[in-house]
Amino acid sequence: MTKAGILGMGRSLGDQVVTNLDFEQRLDTTDEWIRTRTGIEERRIASEQIDSSHMAFEAAKEALQQADTSPEELDLIIVATVTPDMAFPSVSAIIQEQLGASNAAAMDISAACAGFIYGIVTAQQFIENGAYKKILVVGVEKLSKITDMNDRNTAVLFGDGAGAAVLGPVSDDKGILAFELGADGTGGMHIHLQDEFLYMNGREVFKFAVRQMGESALGVIEKAGLTKEDVDFLVPHQANIRIMEASRERLDLPPEKMATTVKKYGNTSASSIPVAMVEELNNGKIKDGDVLVLVGFGAGLVWGAVALRWGR
Ligand code: COA
Repeated sequence: MTKAGILGMGRSLGDQVVTNLDFEQRLDTTDEWIRTRTGIEERRIASEQIDSSHMAFEAAKEALQQADTSPEELDLIIVATVTPDMAFPSVSAIIQEQLGASNAAAMDISAACAGFIYGIVTAQQFIENGAYKKILVVGVEKLSKITDMNDRNTAVLFGDGAGAAVLGPVSDDKGILAFELGADGTGGMHIHLQDEFLYMNGREVFKFAVRQMGESALGVIEKAGLTKEDVDFLVPHQANIRIMEASRERLDLPPEKMATTVKKYGNTSASSIPVAMVEELNNGKIKDGDVLVLVGFGAGLVWGAVALRWGR
C-alpha cells in the first residue's frame, strides 16, 4: 500500500505584532495575567487588507517550493478554516487560481483548531487509495475578524496565520502511521460564533482540552503500534501553555521535545500546528526519521491526532 507523508511545508503570519503591553493599554488586563494564565507574550494580527486567502497563498507557495512540487502537479487543495474571506468561493478555490494549480480540485473544511489534522487525514485517504498523488493542505485563520477586541476573555488569546503542507507518497517506513479523529457536539456551545463574534466558556474548554489532548495523543501512539518511549517530538495545538504542558506530561516527554510557539503567535487556530512544525523544522528540532505526534482540539467540539514518521 502507498504510504502518505509530508513532502514540504510553509507558513505565513499576520503582519502586525501585538504585545501584551498593547492590550494592557486598552483593556482591563495585565501582561502578568496573560503570561501566567496562557503563556502568550505577543501575537501576529493581519492588517485589514490581508485576508485568509493572502496568508494561505503565501504559506502554500513556500510549501510547494519545499516539496519540489509545481502547482500543476497538485490533484487537490484542502483548506481548513473557519474564517474564509467569504462564504464562497472557498479559500481553496481562490488560491487554486492564484497558484495556477489548474489540475487541482478544491474544497474547504471546517474543523476549527483541529482543521489541519482533519485536512491531512483526509489527504492521506486519497493518496493511500491511489486516487491522487499530490495534495496541498492549508490551515489558515484570520481570527481577528471574529474576535471582539474589547472582550478581555478572548481578545488576548488569538492570532492570525497560515501553515501549509504538501502531501504525497513516501517510502514505506515514513509518513502517517496512525490517526484519530473525534467530535462531541454536545459541547458546541462552549465555543461558538454568535452574531459577529466568537464566544467562549474558557474554563469548560480548558477542562475538555486537557483531558482530550492527552487521551488522543496516547490513543494514536497505541494505534501506531508504538509506546510513549518511541515519540521524538510532540506538536500540540498552540492554545495555552498549561494545556500543552499537561499533554506533554501525559507522554512523559521533556520540555525540549514539544513545539512551543504560543508565546510568540498566540492561538492561530487551524494554522497553529503547521506553523509550529515549520518553526521547529527551521530550529532543527524535527529531524528525518523522527516520530512526531500532532494533536489538536477545537470548536465543535472536535479533536484529532496523527502519529507520523518524518521524512520522505
Ligand atoms: N485579563 C485579566 N483577567 C481576565 C482575562 C484577562 N485577559 N481574561 C479573563 N479574565 C478573568 C475573567 O474575567 C475571570 O474573572 P472572574 O473569576 O472574576 O469572573 C477570571 O479571569 C477567569 O479566571 P480563570 O477561569 O481561573 O482563568 P483560567 O485560568 O481558566 O484562564 C483561559 C482563562 C481562557 C486562559 C483558560 O480557561 C483557557 O485557556 N481556556 C481554553 C481556551 C482555549 O483554548 N480556547 C481555544 C480553543 S481552540
